[in-house]
This record gives sequence, C-alpha cells and structure tokens, in this order.
Amino acid sequence: MNRRKISILGATGSVGTSTLDLVERRSDRFEVIALTAASKVGELADAAIRTSAQLAVINDPALLPELQRRLHGSGCRAATGRDALTEAAAGEAELVMAAIVGCAGLEPVMSAIESGRTVALANKEALVTAGQLMIAAARRAGATILPVDSEHNAIFQCLADNRSCDVAKLVLTASGGPFRSRSREEMAAVTPEEAVAHPNWSMGAKISVDSATMMNKGLELIEAHHLFGVSSDRMEVLVHPQSVIHSMVEYVDGSVLAQLGSPDMRIPIAHALAWPERMETPALKLDLARIGSLSFEAPDLDRFPALRVAREAMEAGSAAPIILNAANEEAVAAFLARQIGFLDIIRTVEEALTRTSATPPHSIAEVIDIDRRARSMAKELMSEMAA
Ligand SMILES: NC(=O)c1ccc[n+]([C@@H]2O[C@H](COP(=O)([O-])OP(=O)(O)OC[C@H]3O[C@@H](n4cnc5c(N)ncnc54)[C@H](OP(=O)(O)O)[C@@H]3O)[C@@H](O)[C@H]2O)c1
Repeated sequence: MNRRKISILGATGSVGTSTLDLVERRSDRFEVIALTAASKVGELADAAIRTSAQLAVINDPALLPELQRRLHGSGCRAATGRDALTEAAAGEAELVMAAIVGCAGLEPVMSAIESGRTVALANKEALVTAGQLMIAAARRAGATILPVDSEHNAIFQCLADNRSCDVAKLVLTASGGPFRSRSREEMAAVTPEEAVAHPNWSMGAKISVDSATMMNKGLELIEAHHLFGVSSDRMEVLVHPQSVIHSMVEYVDGSVLAQLGSPDMRIPIAHALAWPERMETPALKLDLARIGSLSFEAPDLDRFPALRVAREAMEAGSAAPIILNAANEEAVAAFLARQIGFLDIIRTVEEALTRTSATPPHSIAEVIDIDRRARSMAKELMSEMAA
C-alpha cells in the first residue's frame, strides 16, 4: 500500500502532537513530508528526526541556526520564513494537517487549499476570518476540507450522504468550560491558570481560554456556517457538560443523529487522517454504563456574552468576524499575560467591533489588513482600560 504523504503545520502544539502520535503509530500508512512550529525548536527537531521528515520549518528566524544544528546529518532540511511555510503546506504532501493556532495559519491553509490538497482543518481562526474565500478557493482547486474540530467532525459524520435540503438544524454541543457554574462577579477575578484548566479536554492555552469565555463556541458557529453552508437561524448551541456527544444534526423528519466518543482529539484527528476509511486509535472506548447519565442545558448568554457577540458578527458578515477574531486573539494573549482581567476580553472584542471600520474583504491580503487594524484597535482599547 502507498503511504499517504502528510505535512503537519503546528506540529508541536496540542493537535499537532496528537496527530504525530497517530501518524507515528502507523508509519506503514503515513509518510511525513514536513513539520512546522513557531519556536519550540527542540520538539520540532526531535519530531522531524523520529518521523524522517524531509523539511522542518521554524517560524522564528533567530532559531534557524539551532534547528540546523539539531538536524545536522539527519537528512531533514531546516528552514524558516513565509516561502518555507508555503512549501510545507503546498509542497509534496497530499494531506495537510492545519494545526497552527490563530490567524497566523491563514496564509499556509490558503496555499494548501489553492494547491488542491486535502486539508484536515483544526485551525478554526483561518475559516472564521476567510471562510468565504477559502470555500470558493477549495471549489476552484478541487481541494477537500476535512473538519478536525470535534464538533464539526461530528456534524460531518452525521451529515454523511444526506441531502443538505433535508437538514433542519445543526446542534453544536459545548462543555460550558471551567466557569459553567460561576457568576459574573466570580469570573471577574479568575486567573489564567483557572481559565486554562478545562474540565474535559486537554488543549492549547488560547483555545482553553476561548472555551472558558465560550468565544470558542461562537467561533465554531462561524466555522460551521462556512463548512456546511447553514445559516445562523438553523444552528443551535447546547451545553452538555460531559462532552460525550460531540454535536448533532436534526433532519426535517424529526430524526436527530449524534456522534459520540470519549473527549480525546485523537478520535476526530484519526477520522480526518484516514477518511474515507477509518483507523484505530488508543483513545479510551466510550463506556456509557459507567458514565450513567448525560445532561444538557441552554447556554446562558448573560454570563457568556461572547456567544451572542460572535453570533451577531456572523450575521453581520463582511469584516465583522475578522475583527471579532483579531480582537479576541489580542485580548486572550493580554489576559494570559495578566495585563487584563477575564471579563475585559469580551469588553475589548465588543468595543473593537464598534470602533474598527472596514469594507468586505475580497482577498487574503485584505483579510490580513483588517486583522492588523483590528489588532491595533484592540491594543489601544486595552491600554485605555488600563489607564
Ligand atoms: N487543542 C485542541 O484540542 C483543539 C481542538 C479543536 C480545535 N483546535 C484548534 O486547533 C488549532 C491549534 O490548537 P492547539 O490547541 O493545538 O494550539 P497550541 O497547542 O497552542 O499549538 C499551536 C501550534 O501552532 C504553532 N504556532 C503558534 N503560533 C504560530 C505562528 N505565529 N506561526 C507559525 N506557527 C505558530 C505552535 O508552535 P510552538 O509550539 O513552537 O509555539 C504550535 O505548534 C487552533 O486553531 C484551535 O482552535 C484545537
């Protein structure tokens, strides 16, 4: 059997290392072409050597000499810069795991799509900011986008070969995050350590904070809108604290299909890696008798306004999702650096949406320009708050 050629963008992150875990278990099935990272040079070099990758790309140019030193004699080429990242995304690999966090992943994801690759997409911010452009580019280039986010992967599985006109609504489940039962007053004083301690999932810091504010679910609504072509009025969020049902599709006849599994990202990642086949994973098998009961509740938009703000940005369309995402990335980074409080995250995002003016983007360059302007607006707002 021919091995499937794969590149992993963001190979040192939470999704990236879970992907490596699966790929390394099945080296008979996958051949690693390229791996990339921002600054974890040691982990990148180790993974490149272990997997016999051809190319390792480090985002920070100052770390290139160290990467070259670590890879010396391994046969793996060390590189940095935009062209190298594009080569990793659109070079020899047939399958690209897009697992960079944030808008930084936008250009490489677009390169992979424009080159007609199969893209396993974890990097939701890319789709949130440039969904329309990406879906159109995928159609033109014949690229396939496979959702890795557990909710979207669940919906993708539940949609299977059903006709889209038979779908009544999509139901995205949400764990509710670590502050599901906290009051606004209590949330005002939470620390970054508390915010990243997700009850069910082990993830990178940014997405963990997004889960705590529930902005993550808002970004996922926008992601689902682009991936599945479903409008806001046909998408619902349902809080389900056990994270066993990863999302559902309701059909016009009243049937509801759900995808269930342990909360382990290796399950949706494996689905995307092996699609249209399946592959085994070391994830715990679901034991419903042990879990006993599943519970559900409606999201509280007063305590978690990010969900409302993100939905409004999706409905407004145009540049609003780009501004939402950029301001959120900046505010989350500032919260993690203890420069602002937890509730200031959504304040910054709402205010940035009001104060940043922009016209609808027609190219990735225009998306990046709006992203840049929204980031400086968010920074300005946060220094005003601190003053
Ligand atoms: N983690 C999850 O369970 C999960 C679930 C669903 C969706 N997602 C989505 O998947 C994406 C990755 O999430 P994660 O939790 O895996 O993030 P993470 O653990 O923070 O990892 C991010 C990866 O991207 C690299 N990176 C960061 N900034 C970069 C930049 N400016 N240029 C190039 N590379 C950069 C990092 O390199 P360094 O390690 O060197 O910093 C790392 O390899 C996010 O969009 C997230 O929303 C994650």
